[in-house]
Amino acid sequence: MIRKIALIAASALCLSTGGALAAGEGGHVEDVTFAHEGPFGKFDQFQLQRGLQVYTEVCAGCHGLKYVPLRTLSDEGGPGIPEDQVRAYASQFTVTDKDTGEDREGLPTDNFPAVVGTGAPDLSLMAKARAGFHGPYGTGMNQLFRGMGGPEYIHAILVGYTGEEKEEFGTVFYENTAFSTGWIAMPPPLSDDLVTYADGTAATVDQMSMDVASFLYWAAEPKLMDRKNAGFVSVLFLALLATLLYLTNKRLWAGVKGKKAHA
Ligand code: HEC
Repeated sequence: MIRKIALIAASALCLSTGGALAAGEGGHVEDVTFAHEGPFGKFDQFQLQRGLQVYTEVCAGCHGLKYVPLRTLSDEGGPGIPEDQVRAYASQFTVTDKDTGEDREGLPTDNFPAVVGTGAPDLSLMAKARAGFHGPYGTGMNQLFRGMGGPEYIHAILVGYTGEEKEEFGTVFYENTAFSTGWIAMPPPLSDDLVTYADGTAATVDQMSMDVASFLYWAAEPKLMDRKNAGFVSVLFLALLATLLYLTNKRLWAGVKGKKAHA
């Protein structure tokens, strides 16, 4: 029985890593440490705010974030931006009202706009669509211990440019050590001091990459903190339940086992 369960578990592990392998084969992704990692990790609110700034000032020129509602920017556990500031942020966008069909200022109830025509993928779910690392021989062990690596992948892409470029069929490709094919069509978006952080953090390419990767991970996984909390409560509950069941079991069988010992 135990062998059977072990076999099923092993094959499930192999199956589940198959998809992840296909997603990021080839490129090299360095493991970096984010505040949200580990069982008690939390998003760093200020990092998320800096990441939003990088997204807005740099990435939003080419990439949309169309599945992310603007109002979630004020969520606790997320960027935690005051509601009046979210309203001001939303008002910079022009959206076509679904009811009246007319253009109006963006509201917190709208989503981030989509960006079309740039050939750049929407980033709403990018941090979950890409896996960074898979463990030896694709066992998926790294996913258990280091996470999926989506934000690491985004960080690695942003810092992975070698400076080489080539032109093929009229498109310029830039050499990138993290991209699966080694050559990406996205021009290096970041350079030192491209943005000015209000909190005085030095805007190095590495820092901006960490910040925007963290922000995009929050965008793709806004309920991460809630899920961690729920997970923690369930583990506590199960531990308690297991103890009670063990004690009940002992008590139920106490008579029988007692007799045997005396016989
Ligand atoms: C000048 C336009 C432009 C800007 C600015 C830009 N990107 Fe891109 N990005 C692209 C294009 C085009 C692609 C598709 C590249 C490809 O498939 O070769 C892309 C692809 C990506 C990918 C996906 C790689 C993959 O695995 O498919 C990520 C992640 C990404 N960009 C993140 C960012 C972030 C974060 C920023 C802001 C710091 C940013 N981009 C700024 C044009 C841009």
